[in-house]
Amino acid sequence: MRAPVRITLFNHKGGVGKTTLTANIAFALAEMGRSVLLVDSDPQCNLTAYLLPDEDVDELLNQSSGSDGQTIWTAVSPVVHNTGPGRLVEPIAVEGGVKLLPGDIRLFEFEELLYDSWTDSLKRRLGALRATASISTLVSQIHRQSPLDYVFYDTGPNIGPLNRVLLLDSDFFVVPVACDLYSVRALATLGQALSKWIFDAETIAAVAPADAELLRSLPVFLGYIPQRFKVYGRSMAAEERIYLRQIEDRIHTDISKVLREFNDKLAPARSVDPKLGRFEDMFPLVLAAQREGVAIWKSSGGTSNLCAKAHRTFRSIARRIERAAQAC
Ligand SMILES: Nc1ncnc2c1ncn2[C@@H]1O[C@H](COP(=O)(O)OP(=O)(O)OP(=O)(O)O)[C@@H](O)[C@H]1O
Ligand SMILES: [Mg+2]
Repeated sequence: MRAPVRITLFNHKGGVGKTTLTANIAFALAEMGRSVLLVDSDPQCNLTAYLLPDEDVDELLNQSSGSDGQTIWTAVSPVVHNTGPGRLVEPIAVEGGVKLLPGDIRLFEFEELLYDSWTDSLKRRLGALRATASISTLVSQIHRQSPLDYVFYDTGPNIGPLNRVLLLDSDFFVVPVACDLYSVRALATLGQALSKWIFDAETIAAVAPADAELLRSLPVFLGYIPQRFKVYGRSMAAEERIYLRQIEDRIHTDISKVLREFNDKLAPARSVDPKLGRFEDMFPLVLAAQREGVAIWKSSGGTSNLCAKAHRTFRSIARRIERAAQAC
């Protein structure tokens, strides 16, 4: 059985479309016949709120501490309480046959454990290594029960220990960006944080006992996606175009170059354009899709032309991601 491709859309900057893009790329891959698991690993639970009705989300959160709960907290809580290994939780089928491992606000308790388990992993402690790898182990168990082609981790907007393990468990990461000044500046922090994480993970792997569970620790930069920019006529608004040019430069200097200096397999060479597509502002579609729990191109929020455009956008991004992942 081939291992699934694990991908994270990551930017520690908030509100840059991570959740919206992740869900809709997953729907597009599912349409292409791929088996996709979405892991809502952001304690904000926005992905879960997008894909399930409010009543279901409330019920899941109320029951997640019991042994028959179904959220990511149900899975990792035995590790947090030191009562045993992680618990296998069956994902829920959502839109388009995509599977969802629902999120949970209590995931922040797992994140507290991860602070110590990272430093204890450097001290070769098997329990700490197991805790660090517990979401990764859970995904592997789900895959063994029912094979997956792709796994997406949805991350919250921060550079914390939870996002560190999710990134380091990913084969690839994609950076969504808004075309504004803050996004330009955020890229430097992102590149530095990632290379430090990869360096630390290599140190942990080098000293770890032979039977330790380890994260894969080589997340390759697959590309970036400018999003939520305004289009007038057929062109991007002038001010956003200026920022996009700066982002294109910074993607190279602050991410690709930094990662390639570390290991040249970690990012494409300068000659390759790492833009995986563009997701323009489609506010009415996005809003209605959230209300209806569907892919944005199936939502009732816009004209058929806008829906068709959204569909083309995501089909194209999904194909580009698949091609880029296969090429690595
Ligand atoms: N292309 C778009 N057009 C219009 N609205 C969008 C678009 N993409 C995202 N949005 C809206 O912008 C907001 C932020 O998007 P989203 O939640 O996907 O970002 P995020 O990066 O996951 O945020 P967070 O950092 O809080 O997790 C949401 O309200 C979403 O509905
Ligand atoms: Mg989000």
